[in-house]
Amino acid sequence: MLSWPEQVVRVQSLSESGIRTIPNQYIKPLTERSVFKPGSQVHQHADIPVIDLHNLFHKDPALHLDTLSRISAACRDWGFFQAVNHGVSHELMGRACQVWRDFFNLPLEMRQEYANTPATYEGYGSRLGVEKGAILDWSDYFFLHYLPVSLRNQNKWPEQPSSCREVVAEYGGEVVKLCRMLLRAMSTDLGLEEKHIENAFGGDNMGACLRVNMYPKCPQPELTLGLSSHSDPGGITILLPDRGLARLQVLKDGDWITVNPVPDSLIVIVGDQIQVLSNAIYKSVEHRVMVSSAKDGVSLAMFFNPKSDLVIEPAKEVVSEERPPLYEAMTFDRYRLHMRMKGPCGKARLESLKFNTP
Ligand code: OGA
Ligand code: NI
Repeated sequence: MLSWPEQVVRVQSLSESGIRTIPNQYIKPLTERSVFKPGSQVHQHADIPVIDLHNLFHKDPALHLDTLSRISAACRDWGFFQAVNHGVSHELMGRACQVWRDFFNLPLEMRQEYANTPATYEGYGSRLGVEKGAILDWSDYFFLHYLPVSLRNQNKWPEQPSSCREVVAEYGGEVVKLCRMLLRAMSTDLGLEEKHIENAFGGDNMGACLRVNMYPKCPQPELTLGLSSHSDPGGITILLPDRGLARLQVLKDGDWITVNPVPDSLIVIVGDQIQVLSNAIYKSVEHRVMVSSAKDGVSLAMFFNPKSDLVIEPAKEVVSEERPPLYEAMTFDRYRLHMRMKGPCGKARLESLKFNTP
C-alpha cells in the first residue's frame, strides 16, 4: 500500500483551527470512550508498579534479586511498570521532549516535508491503518528508525530544529542501553540464558524505532482518544510521557487504570513478541491514551523489536508437556502488518496467533 486512502488531515491543524466540535471521523463508539463506566471502572490511583532500577546490578545478591523479583512480578501481572533510577539522564529526557515540541511548533509546510506513507510509515503521520472510512485517533506522530544501523537514515529525521538529529541519536543511545539491561533481566527471570531475548531479536541487528506522539488539545475530549486501545506489537517499549500529564491508561483485570507518571520516570511496556517468546508467562499490556481540552502533550515511545525477518516463537525452555506452545511462530514483519493495515485493535492480533486448542 503506497498511499493513504483519504486526504491526510493534521490533527494539530484541526485543533488550531478553533473548531468547537470534532469531525465525525474522530468520534469513538460509546464503549471505547475513556469516560465509559458501566462494567469497567476507571481507577485514578491504583497501586501501579514503580521500580527503582538502581540495584539491578548491585553486588549484594539480595538487593539484585529484590529488583529482579519486582520486574518479574510487574511483567507477569501487569505487562508494564514505571522505572526510576533507570540510568537515562533526566536532562537529556527534557531536551528530547523539548526538541520534539519545537518540531511540532514549526510551520506546517516544514513539517509536511517529512509527510509519511504507509509503505514504511517513516516520517510525519496522522493515522495508523489504511482502511477507508476508519475512525481515527486524535493525534499526529513522527516515526523513525534508530536500529539496526542499516535502516537508520538521518536524512529522514527532521533537519529542524537544528539539534534534533543529534538529540535523537544521543537519547536513542541511552535508551538502547536501558533496553538491553531490561531484556537481560527478563531473560534471567524467565530461566533463559542472559542474552536469550536479545539474540532472538537479532543481537546487534535488533530493531529500534522512535515514535513521537503529538496529542493536540481537543474541544470534545470525552468523545475520542489520542491513541486507541492496543498492545505494542514488538518486544518492549520505553515510553517518555509528557511531564505531569496523566493521559495513559492501562487495562488491568478488565479495568482501565490511569497512570500518573512519577517525575523523571520512564514507562516500560511489555509487547506482544515477549508474550509470545515467554509463552505468556509475561503479558503484553493493553493501553490507550486520553486527550484533554486544556493541554496538548508530546510523548516519545521507543520500540524495541525483533529484526523484521526473524521468526519469533515460544522459547524451548519455557515450553513443556504441561505448558505446550500457545502461539504460532511468525516473523515480526508479518506480525506487524496487521497493525499497519488495520490500525490499533486491542490484543486481537495476538489472540489470532493462538493455536486452536480443542
Ligand atoms: C504508543 C503508545 C503512549 C503514549 O506509542 O504505542 O502507547 O502515552 N504511546 O503516547
Ligand atoms: Ni503503545
